[in-house]
Amino acid sequence: MKNTVSTFKQMKADGEKITMLTAYDYSTAKLMDESGINSILVGDSLGMTMLGYEDTLSVTMEDMIHHTAAVTRGAKNALVVGDMPFMSYQTSVYDAVVNAGRLMKEGRCHAVKLEGGAAVCPQIKAIVEAQIPVVAHIGLTPQAVNAFGGFKVQGKNEADARRLLEEAKAVEEAGAFAVVLECVPAKLAELISKTVSIPTIGIGAGAGCDGQVLVYQDMLALFSDFKPKFVKHFANAGEVMKQGFADYIKEVKEGSFPAEEHTFKISDEVLNKLY
Ligand code: KIV
Repeated sequence: MKNTVSTFKQMKADGEKITMLTAYDYSTAKLMDESGINSILVGDSLGMTMLGYEDTLSVTMEDMIHHTAAVTRGAKNALVVGDMPFMSYQTSVYDAVVNAGRLMKEGRCHAVKLEGGAAVCPQIKAIVEAQIPVVAHIGLTPQAVNAFGGFKVQGKNEADARRLLEEAKAVEEAGAFAVVLECVPAKLAELISKTVSIPTIGIGAGAGCDGQVLVYQDMLALFSDFKPKFVKHFANAGEVMKQGFADYIKEVKEGSFPAEEHTFKISDEVLNKLY
């Protein structure tokens, strides 16, 4: 079944959890889609997981369009959300609409995501008015890593918790159809989820959210630089891959790969003419 913004709305109404994972390429998106994921986020986390940057700040619109287009070619039923990279929407409402439009037109995603609360509500409103569905993202917003002074849990004291609650209401009011809550205390995320009518998608925000998102390299143990507290390894694909690489190296070195069944044939008649 095709997942749309209406599916998200219905799932919240029915109390059915929404599943989302990140992906950045055709093959992975196809596997996830075939597994029945509701939504795929082409996150700007690709800057770290795919490109090896230490944060997401260097990711460009061209990077996002390139990877989003690959994912949308692989996903038949999942709702694909393209992430707006740093400085593609903060600069002005005009830039936000133009860049959201590029992500949808060239990347063929079904919605865009951008980070921030009240400060980006004019951008959210304008993008939604351009008929592009928006997922908001509050709490720990990685593009603000320098302003936050590191990757830290948000909303732990009363003022910050109140601000997050207000921001969730503000992005809903601006027209976002869902909101990602990243690294927010579980009970606060639950309160926000009960307060707003749009689905909340948590990452490091506990089970009280309407859905969950994880970076796929984290949940498959493919990304070994660090493991955030909220990550669970659902499979040890990193070890499986390393074993596969080691077996390949061994078999090539010892000459057992390629075997007969991996080779193409030529008739002796043709071959003999070459001598
Ligand atoms: O870029 C990303 O992968 C994200 C998720 C962590 C929500 O924004």
